[in-house]
Amino acid sequence: MVQVGTPPVWSRRRVEPAEAPDRTPWRTDHPLLGCDYNPEQWPREVWQEDVRLMREVGVELVAVNVFGWAEIQPAPERFDFGRLDEVLDLLHEHGIGVNLGTGTASPPPWLTTAYPQVLPVAEDGTTRWPGGRQAWCPSSPVFRELSLELVERVASRYGRHPALRLWHVSNELGGHNALCYCDASAEAFRRWLRERYRDIEAVNQAWGTSFWSQRYGSFDEILPPRLTLSTPNPGQALDFHRFSSEELLAQHQAEAAVVRAHSPLPVTTNLMVTAHQRDMDYWDWAPHLDVIANDHYLDHRLADPAAELAFCADLTRGLAQGRPWILMEHATGAVNWQPVNIAKQPGELLRGSVAHLARGADALCFFQWRASRQGAEKFHSAMLPHAGTDSATWRETIELGTILRSLPDLAGTQVSAQVALVFSYENWWAADAPNRPSELVVHLEQVHQAYAALRAAGVGVDVVRPGAALEGYRVVVVPHLYLVRDSEAAVVADFVADGGHALVTFFSGIVDEDDRVRPGGYPGAFRDLLGVTVEEVHPLAEGVVLPLEGTSGGTVRRWTERVRLDGARAHRRLGAGPLAGHPAVTVHEHGTGRAWYAAADLDPDALRALVEEVLAGAGVDPEPGAGPLVEVVRRRSVPAGSGPDFLFVLNHGPDPVLVPARGTEVCTGQDVDPTLEVPAGAVRIVRLAAEEQS
Ligand code: GAL
Repeated sequence: MVQVGTPPVWSRRRVEPAEAPDRTPWRTDHPLLGCDYNPEQWPREVWQEDVRLMREVGVELVAVNVFGWAEIQPAPERFDFGRLDEVLDLLHEHGIGVNLGTGTASPPPWLTTAYPQVLPVAEDGTTRWPGGRQAWCPSSPVFRELSLELVERVASRYGRHPALRLWHVSNELGGHNALCYCDASAEAFRRWLRERYRDIEAVNQAWGTSFWSQRYGSFDEILPPRLTLSTPNPGQALDFHRFSSEELLAQHQAEAAVVRAHSPLPVTTNLMVTAHQRDMDYWDWAPHLDVIANDHYLDHRLADPAAELAFCADLTRGLAQGRPWILMEHATGAVNWQPVNIAKQPGELLRGSVAHLARGADALCFFQWRASRQGAEKFHSAMLPHAGTDSATWRETIELGTILRSLPDLAGTQVSAQVALVFSYENWWAADAPNRPSELVVHLEQVHQAYAALRAAGVGVDVVRPGAALEGYRVVVVPHLYLVRDSEAAVVADFVADGGHALVTFFSGIVDEDDRVRPGGYPGAFRDLLGVTVEEVHPLAEGVVLPLEGTSGGTVRRWTERVRLDGARAHRRLGAGPLAGHPAVTVHEHGTGRAWYAAADLDPDALRALVEEVLAGAGVDPEPGAGPLVEVVRRRSVPAGSGPDFLFVLNHGPDPVLVPARGTEVCTGQDVDPTLEVPAGAVRIVRLAAEEQS
């Protein structure tokens, strides 16, 4: 019997193989259809039907053992792989590849009963209990030990199973437990700070602790930013975010190391590049994954869900450094975790899936295969809904499988863009911190607005991290980049000096990496580039809308600034309010390039008009036919000319559209020349004629 609170002895008996096997990179020679499969929820008879129907729809990659811990280790010293062996063999017999979960996502009840210290603790000191999922503290040494023991068993058993295609570490690491405030986390946070700063005085400097009598005498006095009476120290909160992201990455790395010692196959974990996850800095995570995999669910509560999907797909491609990536989860229909779970309209499943494909995914997987009958997700959609195969969902899923099978030469093609958009997780943490000038300004909304304007203007966008090389782009867009290092701002300035065009939006460049304001006027790090000095920001009260001066119309809301021109000229001015006549948009010739500044929160049409002007000035042409309701995206062969290029057209609108193209359309098999008609709500994919390739 394992003693409560004592790590079990057998967990230290890990035997590492002498040599790690050679790595096999992630590769697929055609786009894959896949899903999460939870056979432990079903009797064996159902498995036979499952594999038959998987073959029918064309499923080739199945994630299993994601929540398998309680099944394969039902008691501390008992492992039972019988059912999982059968499932893997069955899938293999039917030619279906396995994306194998390490199984550590959710500890079983015996574990949290024996080791209650692994349970996460919230900001207010209250424990988060088992009974849901992911009830573990990322810094818990006990959890680390026990989870790695499990991974050792799983990896050594299945590392060379013939069905295996890919390893799936844990599940959505940090989805529920990203920030833990328990004593083990406090200790780990102090360790992390010691490594980062060495000296307590450096922490005091970085966090500005001379404010409110917060000076620390030693590392031992530091706690995680637990619930305070007033606003906690922003530097402490920012470092806690950095620390927490690294703790979860460390769990991934620890599991991946065990897997890699036993198996040559690629290892990844499903990221959550969505509007709902901001706790992990995926720019730091990405280099550690053998292939980037993402989960994305549409949120109908957002202003423009289709644009948000496109942004997430472009950001995922950015994390993948342009290489193909895997959509590890999305939904055939409604989810179960929004207040009202909107079902997809006819055609929406295809549009959503193909939008990811167009933006670089090489595998499209759904959560989940068969809709659960019990548990918290029983009303979540699935490939095989409660209604069974006589359903619109099944028919549309079959259609998607057919489209994927018609694209054998798509895999490996890539998306390229002339526009880069700078996005940073640590800026997101800092920019949305309490006590900022206006809580009406929300960082992600600002990013979405800029992205939506670019998408509506019909241009492709690469999402890059601050400091990324900008060679090869014509335009860089920097939305609301409040926190930026000098070196990162310099990359944008050098890009413009060398002939690039930049559009920076308000409240950018304000603080350095320690959240310390740059003196001398805003926008701090971008002042010289933009040729303006902002003396004071003037946020607008909720509901206040001010016109822009001039006949071209447009309004601003939420944000204005008292801008002084220091070399720039005013492009648009405020038409009313206390700052009437002050610049709202400026433009500055810098070196051989041009730097634009939006000093106010422009309405979507005014922002789009500005973006179109910026793009035209930089010589970036939109994709013909593209617009707010019509996505037109190209995937090109790499190296150029080594295979066909593809043109994806997604018509989100209520009317048919015509797009110029020549080649063969994949969904209908028809020849296209010189225009492609795309019915309302439909997707079309053209394998372009050789002379159309660019
Ligand atoms: C994901 C998760 C899946 C499932 C899905 C439902 O966050 O990885 O296990 O819960 O959401 O939308």
